[in-house]
Amino acid sequence: MMNKEKILVIGANGQIGTALLPKLQEIYGEDGVIASDLQATNPPKSVFETLDATQPTALQALIKKHNITQVYHLAAVLSAKGEANPLQAWEINMQTLLNVLEAARNLNLKKVFIPSSIAVFGESAPHQFTPQQAYLDPTTVYGISKVAAENWCLYYHKRYQVDVRSLRYPGVIGYQSLPGGGTTDYAVEMYHKAVAGENYTCYLQENTRLPMIYMEDVLRATIELMEAPADQISVRTSYNLAGTSFTPAELYENIKLLFPDFQCGFVPDFRQAIADSWPESIDDTSAQKDWGWKPKFDLSQITTEMITHLSKQLIG
Ligand code: SER
Repeated sequence: MMNKEKILVIGANGQIGTALLPKLQEIYGEDGVIASDLQATNPPKSVFETLDATQPTALQALIKKHNITQVYHLAAVLSAKGEANPLQAWEINMQTLLNVLEAARNLNLKKVFIPSSIAVFGESAPHQFTPQQAYLDPTTVYGISKVAAENWCLYYHKRYQVDVRSLRYPGVIGYQSLPGGGTTDYAVEMYHKAVAGENYTCYLQENTRLPMIYMEDVLRATIELMEAPADQISVRTSYNLAGTSFTPAELYENIKLLFPDFQCGFVPDFRQAIADSWPESIDDTSAQKDWGWKPKFDLSQITTEMITHLSKQLIG
């Protein structure tokens, strides 16, 4: 069993980690995936290790203990939360990233996944159909940390041949867990409120169009990228990735088709400026060409899925 893969997920309790873990377990087996985060969930994920990824020695010890071959590094302070304490967000995002890349180099990991984000784009990039190669002048500390992360990934790939791969995720919508601290979180919140029979006040203006993606598409994109042959990966910073794009008003209208009594108000806060600096839609031609990316879920399909799953959770 020399070639058996052993996967470490850092940030396994987060929005994407919670959904990705079972998918990875399907592929690599329950014993093939180690979940890690600052604290265990109750009950803990099948194989769970407490890890503070800002600590390089602890990270490397964990990788050695479980003979880890691949790391998915999903821990980060997101765009809105990062603005409350920019230096702390920078510290956490960069320290954990560099610890993972150093571990990959020193312990000869086969592959590493580092997520990036539409937050790398700022005012200078075209907002419609934002291209892969655009001038990156992000407005948030989260965006700055992701631009730096993308360049560090390229650096470790070129200089040390680390097989590190990355996607610029749009706003991620899933029923598995609540997002935390992002600017695109309103979409998931709106679904939760509608299903709970409550009204919602959106913190973005109704006409703010942002790139979004359903969790099933996120998981498939991530796994397809990680399974693609290394010589097909031409982008070693981070791939643009498109799902769909919509505004809070379009989401509201869509939900109202199923919940006619649902009411949503719009009271923008500081997150409006962040959203205004981001793309409205994404050109992901490189991902399509290199490893065949194609999203499956549009807004109405996402709404059907979200409402079905959240309704079941509510009854359950
Ligand atoms: N969803 C993230 C955020 O809003 C973007 O990566 O911060």
